[in-house]
Amino acid sequence: MTSTIPTGTSSRTTTAGDAAPTDVPCREDYARLATELAERTEEKAATRQHAKGKQTARERLDAFFDDDSWTEVGRFTGGDVRTGNAGSAVVTGYGQVQGRMVAAYAQDFSVKGGTLGRVEGDKIIALMDRAITMRIPIVGMQDSGGARIQEGVVALSQYGRIFRKSCQASGLIPQISLILGPCAGGAVYSPALTDFIIMTRENSHMFVTGPEVVRATTGENVSFAELGGARMHNFQSGVAHYLAENEDEAIDYVRSLLDYLPSSCQSPAPRYDYEPSDEDEQAATRVGDLVPVDPRHPYDVVAVIEALVDHGEFVQIQELFASRIVIGFACLNGQSVGIIANQPKEDAGTLDVDASEKAARFVRFCDAFGLAIITLVDVPGYRPGTEQEQAGIIRRGAKLIAAYANATVPMVTVILRKAYGGAYIVMGSKSIGADFAFAWPGSEIAVMGAEGAVSIMYHREIAAVEKAGGDVEAERARLVEQYHAENIGPDLSVQTGELDGVIDPTDTRRVLIDSLALLATKDQTVPHLKRHDNAPQ
Ligand code: HXC
Repeated sequence: MTSTIPTGTSSRTTTAGDAAPTDVPCREDYARLATELAERTEEKAATRQHAKGKQTARERLDAFFDDDSWTEVGRFTGGDVRTGNAGSAVVTGYGQVQGRMVAAYAQDFSVKGGTLGRVEGDKIIALMDRAITMRIPIVGMQDSGGARIQEGVVALSQYGRIFRKSCQASGLIPQISLILGPCAGGAVYSPALTDFIIMTRENSHMFVTGPEVVRATTGENVSFAELGGARMHNFQSGVAHYLAENEDEAIDYVRSLLDYLPSSCQSPAPRYDYEPSDEDEQAATRVGDLVPVDPRHPYDVVAVIEALVDHGEFVQIQELFASRIVIGFACLNGQSVGIIANQPKEDAGTLDVDASEKAARFVRFCDAFGLAIITLVDVPGYRPGTEQEQAGIIRRGAKLIAAYANATVPMVTVILRKAYGGAYIVMGSKSIGADFAFAWPGSEIAVMGAEGAVSIMYHREIAAVEKAGGDVEAERARLVEQYHAENIGPDLSVQTGELDGVIDPTDTRRVLIDSLALLATKDQTVPHLKRHDNAPQ
């Protein structure tokens, strides 16, 4: 940390003829008292936090910002240097991350359990306002018992103001939350309204009602980890976007994430100098080898993505949740892009409720912040069955449609191996809004698989063979083969312009880069006739 701007307390300079009252320190005294108080409180914070395996709020901000680049604001707001009251339970400041300005706050659990009262709320809201005005990302580090009980509804109202401010900031500036301790009660909705949530394996918890209340109201005995630990929120609820081993890794991840994001929706997507390398070229040439020809054979689509992007670097989001779809950021020829891909090694890459919602929110994020979207398709369809229908695949699957259909950023889609039925259309097809769509040779593209189509189209013929005592299975196999030859493939899509071409896998990286270059000047204006859409939520 390089500097501190104390606010909220006054100091007076002693001048001749204007002797300072004895209880008001002169500037030198104030500075000395402030330094001593700061050291004392930081020592206390370190003792309390380190004992729990956690860093202090200021240590976290030190680790987050570039070396010696951050400035704390409101160090003693809500306190009184003269009486030794260090002030609030939140540290706010701004500084640089990889040379770009970012605002951040860290709740200080060593002060009243990091709880939020009037002063803390005011400090966080002031920082959010500043981030909005300056058009810079804001990062919140949560470690708090929630609303300060002693301040009653005043504390609750501050959460209301933070929620409102966060909604105002949504889509305007990136908002990222690090959960580094408890985040309890309605307070969880503060990070929930941000774009990304990162949790640490130990110490971080998020729940609307804690284990005690759950026990008292329902009789259920449940641990902190089961109710709201990092594993639960990364694997099951989908609330979290990354599971970090510890605080340092969590902070590193956020710094990496910020590399791919613009500072606001009004800034262009990050673009880095890219020097073509032999490694990238060779990886792109071999990408076709990573996808087995047999459409039922699984493979890891992450390896395909890494073979296509600059330096093989792909920052995955929500890796542990709904892993049948993969989302994340990478660069193509130095340009930051969002990537969405079906994952054939998980449930054959089928779309389900969680995968749809995961991808939908990511598409909306990319679109809000002007990041081009690359979609890699290898999807057998929506997952069939009562479980999915009862889970609301209709309304939840519709979110992905709405996200792609409303997106105006450049969108380029490549079908790697197969795209069936509704899932073909939903996964960034041209009809839903992609600017360009390509397929690799031999891709299976059809309204449904041959077996299903034959059962529906030829049920009379098959029944007739059965009635006549013929070989039903042989007839079915013949019809399947015939249907496959006539209907399953990219030809119809190419003929109707739904595909812009069948490309050799080795050309994929070049085609993506060329397409993005052409789309750099795409008109992304959104007509503002309506207040907002009513897309499925
Ligand atoms: C006031 C609180 C507090 C709170 C903790 N403290 N939570 N003070 N209001 N909500 C204080 C403790 O009294 C203690 O003070 C210090 O913070 C540290 O807390 P400990 O309990 O000693 O720490 P630990 O054992 O680590 O447990 C942390 C905890 C637990 C899990 C967070 O304190 C807890 O369950 N707190 C209540 C959480 C909760 O239900 N919050 C919801 C509030 S309502 P001393 O003086 O001993 O250091 C809410 C609604 C928001 O947030 C609504 C928005 C719409």
